[in-house]
Amino acid sequence: MPVSSAAARSALAVGSVGALGLGYAALIERQLFTLRRAELPVLAPGSRPLRVLQFTDLHLTPGQRRKVEWVRDLAQLRPDLVVNTGDNIAHPGAVATALRAFEPFFDTPGVFVLGSNDYFSPAFKNPWFYLVDHKRNLGKSPRLPTDDLVRGFEAGGWRHLRNRRTRFPVRGVEVEFVGVDDPHLDYDRLDLVDGPPDPEAQLTMGVMHAPYQRVLDQFSADGAGLLLAGHTHGGQLCLPGWGALVTNCDLDTRRAKGVSRWWPGAAGAPSRKAPHDAAYLHVSAGLGTSPLAPVRFACRPEATLLTLTPRPPYAASAASAASAALPHPRGPRAWRARLARGGPPPATP
Ligand SMILES: [Fe+2]
Repeated sequence: MPVSSAAARSALAVGSVGALGLGYAALIERQLFTLRRAELPVLAPGSRPLRVLQFTDLHLTPGQRRKVEWVRDLAQLRPDLVVNTGDNIAHPGAVATALRAFEPFFDTPGVFVLGSNDYFSPAFKNPWFYLVDHKRNLGKSPRLPTDDLVRGFEAGGWRHLRNRRTRFPVRGVEVEFVGVDDPHLDYDRLDLVDGPPDPEAQLTMGVMHAPYQRVLDQFSADGAGLLLAGHTHGGQLCLPGWGALVTNCDLDTRRAKGVSRWWPGAAGAPSRKAPHDAAYLHVSAGLGTSPLAPVRFACRPEATLLTLTPRPPYAASAASAASAALPHPRGPRAWRARLARGGPPPATP
């Protein structure tokens, strides 16, 4: 066989596989909505478990009825708390769509933060810049009706954690919430929410859209035991057997979705290096995509049901012994100093 003919056949085969993969990513996997479950031991010993349903990154447009009905059906789970980590809409006419999706949850305690796509319309971005400069042209596209979305969520009883701390009981468990406006837009005001955990709270939960390290560091240094975020889309286009290639922020790709551990200064360190009282981080891959890049591969769209359970006794005793022996740190720098003084020991892998 002539070389040119073999090369042409190879190119054709590669092209066909690529086209099939793209078709699958655009037409099939993008619609394979999945409920993922995880159990996180973050409550005080003796607490009753709490079921938290996390939604993120729906990127709704007015015509997405299938996604809306799938979300509404999850009300059958009867969660104790709903956490919405932003990027709800992707069209000026989608506020009503988002409110219809979440309407069955408005009799459930809920908190929310916003993402950049709740503020600004999607803008076309060269995929190369997505890899090398994820903030390029951010905030330059037309505004979305953000205030209408916020009013709708608040009318449904959900609390907006926009650079705010608050505390309320969730099925009898006192939970403190600390949230920031979207760090991807640099809207986070950590100076407004820093400080030690509320002594009346049995858990402090940090909530953000984009999981930037500065926010994770501050929240975990301030004693948050659970950190919830979205934004990454789990990498959105992943390599089977490898995972995410990007996170669209400064989080490492191994934490692009799912449960991991975080502590001040963790940066890209693996979770097995975590100290005993490191926070649990959950990043949801979310339910949507930008309308300008409507593909998902090896990364199904998801919502997550998190069951919060009591910490095992050894973790509780290690954490409380460390807390009792040392003053509460007031930020990542203080935490690093605490570690240097011989703070909590590294966990056994
Ligand atoms: Fe998003």
